[in-house]
Amino acid sequence: MHTPIDPAGSASPSRLTGRTGGTGTDADTTDPTTIAADAAEALAEATGVPRYDIALVLGSGWAEAADLLGQTVATVDAGDIPGFSVSGVPGHRGTLRAVQVPTPTGTKHALVLGARTHYYEGRGVRAVAHPVRTAAAAGAQTVVLTNGAGGLHREWVPGSAVLINDHLNLTATSPLEGANFVDLTDLYSPRLRAIAHTVDPELPEGVYAQFPGPHYETPAEVQMAKRLGADLVGMSTALEAIAAREAGMQVLGISLVTNLAAGVSPQPLSHAEVIAAGREAGPRISALLSAIVQKILE
Ligand code: HPA
Repeated sequence: MHTPIDPAGSASPSRLTGRTGGTGTDADTTDPTTIAADAAEALAEATGVPRYDIALVLGSGWAEAADLLGQTVATVDAGDIPGFSVSGVPGHRGTLRAVQVPTPTGTKHALVLGARTHYYEGRGVRAVAHPVRTAAAAGAQTVVLTNGAGGLHREWVPGSAVLINDHLNLTATSPLEGANFVDLTDLYSPRLRAIAHTVDPELPEGVYAQFPGPHYETPAEVQMAKRLGADLVGMSTALEAIAAREAGMQVLGISLVTNLAAGVSPQPLSHAEVIAAGREAGPRISALLSAIVQKILE
């Protein structure tokens, strides 16, 4: 049984607003894990897959990985699952897919989340964390968080994949609520990074700084992030990773460098170029990601 959801529709922003960044903040008394459990139940019903082994959040440039992983057995519109909304961001898909992944130890199931909510969309931190919480409620013990990011090192040409080994959360918020003191040491699993390195030993690693967006950073902000220890700048992932750790998941984070961050190159930034870089790199990085996921599931 689903807990009754907002009669206006299954995407229920009022229950997912969270404490900051949204419109109403305190009307919502429903625990976000209850909404995630509802979503997981609806997902199991819609896809016919009762439990998932791994979940992937596919950001800019990474969408094709879903096709390489295995056979898609169900595709669901995000808007049909409680708490999800269709992304208004060009380059971001609005579907959830169940993919069967053949492995030497039997068939496994991957949940491909093409429906991320970015913090800058203004639906609040609960909406940002909801896909990850849903994946955890659907049984996934591992989540792969991918994104497109600006690179702070000239040698990381657009199209480079970089493993995230830590983050700077520069959003001034958290997806966690209350006195919930979650340890974030080794948030980006050393074990999963080691597995990724068995697929490509040359994969660089770096610290990802999440800015709130949606504007790109100023060159001064990029220099600030660099002095703080960042190697990549972006607008997603850190808040999701925190929610994933709270939910007890193992996290692998991978960025696609879609551009050199503002001021690192004299070129101005444009969203169209970010999407174009992702499209160009798509086949190569998707094959890489698919191979990594196969190894994780072995
Ligand atoms: N900054 C923030 N987010 C991004 C960038 C960037 O340069 N490129 C892709 N996403």
